[in-house]
Amino acid sequence: MSIRINKIFTKVSSHYDLMNHLFSLGIDKNWRSETVMKSIEAISKIDHPIILDLATGTGDLAIMLSKELDKLGKKYKLIAMDFNKEMLDLGKKKAVLAGSNKISFEISDAMKTGYPSNYFDLVISGFALRNLDNLEVFSTELKRIIKNNGKFIFVDMAVPDEKSKAFFFRIYSFLMRIIGFFVDRKAYFWLVSSILKFNKKRLIKILSSSGFKEIKYTELKTGVAYIVSGRK
Ligand SMILES: C[S@@+](CC[C@H](N)C(=O)[O-])C[C@H]1O[C@@H](n2cnc3c(N)ncnc32)[C@H](O)[C@@H]1O
Repeated sequence: MSIRINKIFTKVSSHYDLMNHLFSLGIDKNWRSETVMKSIEAISKIDHPIILDLATGTGDLAIMLSKELDKLGKKYKLIAMDFNKEMLDLGKKKAVLAGSNKISFEISDAMKTGYPSNYFDLVISGFALRNLDNLEVFSTELKRIIKNNGKFIFVDMAVPDEKSKAFFFRIYSFLMRIIGFFVDRKAYFWLVSSILKFNKKRLIKILSSSGFKEIKYTELKTGVAYIVSGRK
C-alpha cells in the first residue's frame, strides 16, 4: 500500500467532492453517468451480478450505479472499496443520505483486494487509475478477481490527444494548481501532475499484457476524460 498516496487523500477528503466538481466544471457528473450507462449495459444479461467499485473514494460512482440499478429493479451485489478510511466514511454517509442501502463499503487495497479469484462480473473505477502506485500489480490483481468473460470499465482524466485541446488543458491545469495552492499546495500539485503525467499508451499496454481482451479507449466529448474498458 502506498502510505504517501493514502495520506494525500486523508488531507483532501473533506473538500474532495467540492474540488472535484470545481476542477471538472461540474462535468464529472456526466462522465460518471456515461460510465454508469456502459456498466448497466455490460451486466444487462447477468442475473444478480457482483460488481466492485475500486478506489471508490467518496462513493459517487457506486451511488449513481446503485440508484440506476434500483430503478431498473435489478438484483445485484455492489462493493465499494477504498484504502482510505476518511474518503470511505464520507462515502458511507452520502450513501445513507442518497437512500442507497445496498452498497457494501469496504476498506482494502486495490493491489490486494482479498477477494477470491474469478469473483466479479464487473469492476468499475472513477478517477483513480493515475493514483494507483503500481499499475502492473493492479492489472494482475484485476485479472485475477474478474470472472472469465467479465468486464472492467474505468473513467479518468488525461491530457486530450488533439493538440488545441491539449494546449487549453495545460492552461486550465495551471489554473487548477493555483486554486489548489490555496487549499492544499502539495496535495493538489500532486493530483494535477498525476493527470498531466498519465501515460495512456502504457496503461493499455499493461492491461493487454495482463491478458485482457477487447480493450477500448474512448475519449469523452470534452477530450479531457476517457473511458477504458476491457474483458477477461
Ligand atoms: C481521485 S480519487 C477518486 C475517487 C472516486 N472513485 C471518484 O470517482 O471520485 C482516488 C481514490 O483512489 C484511492 N486509492 C488510491 N490508491 C489506492 C489503492 N491502492 N487501493 C485502494 N484505493 C486507492 C484513494 O484513496 C482515493 O479515494
